[in-house]
Amino acid sequence: MLDLHQEYVQLLKLIRRYIEQETGVRILSPILARSVASAGGATSARGAASMAAHVREEIAPLSSGRKRQPLVAAVVKGEEPLDNLDIDTLEEIEESIQGCKRCHLAQYRKNIVFGIGNPEARLMIIGEAPGAQEDIKGQPFVGDAGQLLTKMLAAIHIERKDVYITNVVKCRPENNKNPNHDEIVACNAYLIAQIRVIKPKIILCLGNFAAKTLLKTENGISTLRGKFFDYQGIKLLPTYHPAALLYHPAWKKDAWIDLQLLQKELEGGRSC
Ligand code: URA
Ligand code: SF4
Repeated sequence: MLDLHQEYVQLLKLIRRYIEQETGVRILSPILARSVASAGGATSARGAASMAAHVREEIAPLSSGRKRQPLVAAVVKGEEPLDNLDIDTLEEIEESIQGCKRCHLAQYRKNIVFGIGNPEARLMIIGEAPGAQEDIKGQPFVGDAGQLLTKMLAAIHIERKDVYITNVVKCRPENNKNPNHDEIVACNAYLIAQIRVIKPKIILCLGNFAAKTLLKTENGISTLRGKFFDYQGIKLLPTYHPAALLYHPAWKKDAWIDLQLLQKELEGGRSC
């Protein structure tokens, strides 16, 4: 049985989705929080109705004044390209991804794993897809591969909190399968939007999927690794995925060479 808190959160999500669909206006978290406070909580039908009324009041000026808002529901449903959204902050991208059903990975996920870290990071790290632990916690690289990634960064004196970490696809593929072409394409605009907002100096691509997706190449990671590429004015360094290093410890030697290259490139500026 759901506990009261879970029921409450689900109710909030339903109300948010209903009003968003009805008005085409995205309800940002602060609006929702103010509305919850004004209704004294939404654990009863009356509380929920009062909250919905408050949300309507708050978003009325938005729905009349801002043309891009009605797009949001259609974008999330996959009926409009995400590129049509005019997005300025990570928070806005994260809001726009809520409830995403643009690809069929939506049906297996527990949580969308959006990304974590410093929104002004000089180093952005892109993996493949969330695994079981990431799906449960809603955060990237928190399982075994994530622990190795943390150690790899520590070896070149970088702390996780200083970088921004995300994946090519934001939902866990069932049974940890590789993400397929359609899923990568469906999710790609979220990744591009994240890169556009963060504007990192360097992107570290972990494994085949991140490097191939951004560089639009069919070459594999063992060919691509160990050198910088240009990605729209950003230096992009492909290296082995930490999960691959757990299976092939002999590749750690090359991964270490890549990490040192990364360290050298970051040197001379402020820390990540
Ligand atoms: N592997 C990935 O590519 N990403 C994660 O978040 C975890 C494991
Ligand atoms: Fe949406 Fe990306 Fe999840 Fe597919 S993987 S449902 S595109 S967030």
